Amino acid sequence: MAVQPLRIYPDEILRQVCEPVARVDDSVQQLLDDLGESMYAHQGVGLAAPQIGVSRRAVVVDVAPRDEESQLIELVNPRVVEFSEETIDFEEGCLSLPDEAEMVTRPGRVVVEALDRRGKPFTVEAEGLLAVALQHEIDHLDGRLFIDYLSRLKRSLIDRRLRKRQAQAG
Ligand code: NI
Repeated sequence: MAVQPLRIYPDEILRQVCEPVARVDDSVQQLLDDLGESMYAHQGVGLAAPQIGVSRRAVVVDVAPRDEESQLIELVNPRVVEFSEETIDFEEGCLSLPDEAEMVTRPGRVVVEALDRRGKPFTVEAEGLLAVALQHEIDHLDGRLFIDYLSRLKRSLIDRRLRKRQAQAG
């Protein structure tokens, strides 16, 4: 297990559609370990494989408050199979878009199907922050970022800001 460096916008891997995992083998378990460690190290509530440079369909989330027991959920090939009609507004950020946060509107409840680290199917019914985090992370697997839900103006401001900062970072 190891903490991995994060891919930062506009890194192209963040815009790729990730490959489904054909078989949950050691390499996938290693990937889940790296995702979990990296998420905790960078103090995120979720992390998707492309954010650590791996274009495969795997994510982790843990929305438990930091002073409470962790509630790590590892999802391989996750899929949202039900969206509620009612929505929730939540201020989202992303470890790959540092220091940016904006209100995003999403379905307030979702049902997600995925495989666990042993390749066994399971279902998560989520609402509130967990529903938001799951949708945000699953979006990453399709190359979608939270800024895609914003107005064109807001999106281009953030785009310019992050490109400038990345250019300066070398
Ligand atoms: Ni993100």
